[in-house]
Amino acid sequence: MRRAKTVVKNIFQIELAENEYPHTFRGTMIVTTDQLFKVAYGKYAVGAYNINNAEQAMGLFKGCIDSQAPFIIQISKGARKYTDKRMLEAVIRAADTIFPEAIFAVHLDHGDEETCYDCINSGFFSSVMIDASHDPFEKNVAITKRVVEAAHKKGISVEAELGMLGGVEEDIKVEDGNACLTDPKEAEEFVKQSGCDSLACAIGTSHGAFKFKGKQSLRFDVLEKIKARLPQFPLVMHGSSSVPKDEVDRINQAGGKIQDSAGVDPNEYLPASKLGVTKINIDTDGRLVWTRVHREFFRDKPGEFDFRPVGKIFIEEYAKFINSRNHFLGSAGQLETVRKALTQ
Ligand code: G3H
Ligand code: 13P
Ligand code: ZN
Repeated sequence: MRRAKTVVKNIFQIELAENEYPHTFRGTMIVTTDQLFKVAYGKYAVGAYNINNAEQAMGLFKGCIDSQAPFIIQISKGARKYTDKRMLEAVIRAADTIFPEAIFAVHLDHGDEETCYDCINSGFFSSVMIDASHDPFEKNVAITKRVVEAAHKKGISVEAELGMLGGVEEDIKVEDGNACLTDPKEAEEFVKQSGCDSLACAIGTSHGAFKFKGKQSLRFDVLEKIKARLPQFPLVMHGSSSVPKDEVDRINQAGGKIQDSAGVDPNEYLPASKLGVTKINIDTDGRLVWTRVHREFFRDKPGEFDFRPVGKIFIEEYAKFINSRNHFLGSAGQLETVRKALTQ
């Protein structure tokens, strides 16, 4: 495994100007999302998982190695502030050493322009998301274009967003639920004008644990239209947690109060990947695993106050969860294929 790692390091050096490429990237299996997408496109989706601390990192790496899957680590602005942005970087570097087989991208989730530049210049991120989806089309294009220019100079991939993810509140306001979905024609124009490497599209999901009221399904009709206009272009699905009912039930049985939750059917991940969805974002589900493990542990052991035993359980449970998601995504078992593709 170490040998392959050196070869991939060399690929980085070929693809990226030696003097522009941050020293700290070298010798790792941190690859760009673009590299992962080229291998995965149309076949499966790569899981993009948010992390905030060492326990999540350990569970994520373990779950991806157990399932032999490439993956994307996502770091949000909130995650960078939670302890200290340098702490998360150090945790990921350490995890990479502990799991030398791992192939992954380090991605900024929902960045603003300033945070994108900070990550681009950090020498650690291989991918950033510029989220100017709340701005008008022209402004979104202009901001994205600036970030693309800065990122591409350093060989870093850029995800942009067009459309606004729905939410229960928006569904209430908008009767047919269509108002915030990505317009396929605009998507084509946006990609052409901005030069982004992947596009987050609103296709019926929303962030958090309360995604649907009533019928749950992705808008495959919209996705088909986007794919028709952007063939071979990687699309990203945010708000993809499945919010498992048994997980929520266990939380509630252990004292939680999460009502009317609903998530994406994970059986829809793979069909979505066949229509160009190459990155699937999952954060909320990880929080649910954490909450279930900790609530049950302290309910059953009210005298306990050592956080390590419960932390260990969480790492194992999160690894199992990641493993199961990678099977739904179709990324499980793809690690060696990706390694070969990157080293050819
Ligand atoms: O889309 C947002 C992600 O779930 C990150 O959430 O900003 O609370 O870290 P956060
Ligand atoms: P969930 O809230 O469905 O996990 O979505 C996470 C996400 O989109 C992160 O960008
Ligand atoms: Zn998101």
